[in-house]
Amino acid sequence: MVLTNNIQLSPAGFDLATYLAHCQAQVEAALDQALPVVYPEKIYEAMRYSLLGGGKRLRPILCLTTCELVGGTVEMALPTACALEMIHTMSLIHDDLPAMDNDDLRRGKMTNHKVYGEDIAILAGDGLLAYAFEHIATQTRNCPPEALLEVVARLGRAVGAAGLVGGQVMDLDFEGQTNVSVETLHFIHTHKTGALLEACVVCGGIIGGATPLQVQYLTQYAQNIGLAFQIVDDILDLTATREVLGKTAGKDLQAQKITYPRLWGIEESRRQAQNLVDEAKEALMSFGERAKVLVAIADYITTRNY
Ligand code: FPP
Ligand code: MG
Repeated sequence: MVLTNNIQLSPAGFDLATYLAHCQAQVEAALDQALPVVYPEKIYEAMRYSLLGGGKRLRPILCLTTCELVGGTVEMALPTACALEMIHTMSLIHDDLPAMDNDDLRRGKMTNHKVYGEDIAILAGDGLLAYAFEHIATQTRNCPPEALLEVVARLGRAVGAAGLVGGQVMDLDFEGQTNVSVETLHFIHTHKTGALLEACVVCGGIIGGATPLQVQYLTQYAQNIGLAFQIVDDILDLTATREVLGKTAGKDLQAQKITYPRLWGIEESRRQAQNLVDEAKEALMSFGERAKVLVAIADYITTRNY
């Protein structure tokens, strides 16, 4: 069976909210199926608690959308899309731990360690990270092995010390410091958030058979939306409520984290985010009408309220 979302090929009546809801349901079902509860149940339940606990599913959706954009199918990219959500979820479980941000609310629910204890939460994160790579390797179909190898290599780099881990280390290091340069802040965010978002877009493209030039354009798009996404996150931390966010609001201020609004003010931060979104959309020019979903997702990043 060839799954397709194909909405970007039928411009009439395209509605991003409908498209996102459709993809979310697809990802939700695939994640549920990917991780059944087996012995020892406790760890699988803890992994499932966070993995299936809601969320926008933006990362897997970006992967599926990009794969289709360059001519691949949803079916080819679905295991990688699920793996990306597993990795994102594990990073949030660990980020919420007392040793890191010490948070008690995530995606509108109690954080993993609050429910299962710190020991199990650490292991649930570890389990999800390892399983993500296993899932890609064992479940991907109809994708050339060289492409899959590149996906695994890129993903490993995006989550390790050259990506998420490196960004998180700097984020923790600079907590409470007032004199942080914009370059340092960029480093933190391009690594902590940007690297995985870039992997989502680019890996979807690679699975779908993107040419090197297409990968270059997709990388430019992803890097720009990645930074815009983080600037908006910083703004929302200041302006949105705990109920809407589904996580603690005002946390950056409380933890004395350096943020874009703190460096630039809210209005300038909004302007910078908009510039990045404009640049992201420009990078898609050569794809023409087919890129309309990625264009709409870029716009959604600055207009979202959670
Ligand atoms: C949320 O940021 C946290 C992240 C985006 C990533 C954190 C990364 C780690 C804990 C490293 C994980 C380890 C591996 C191997 C991938 P935030 O605290 O600014 O946002 P929040 O308000 O949503 O908590
Ligand atoms: Mg946090």
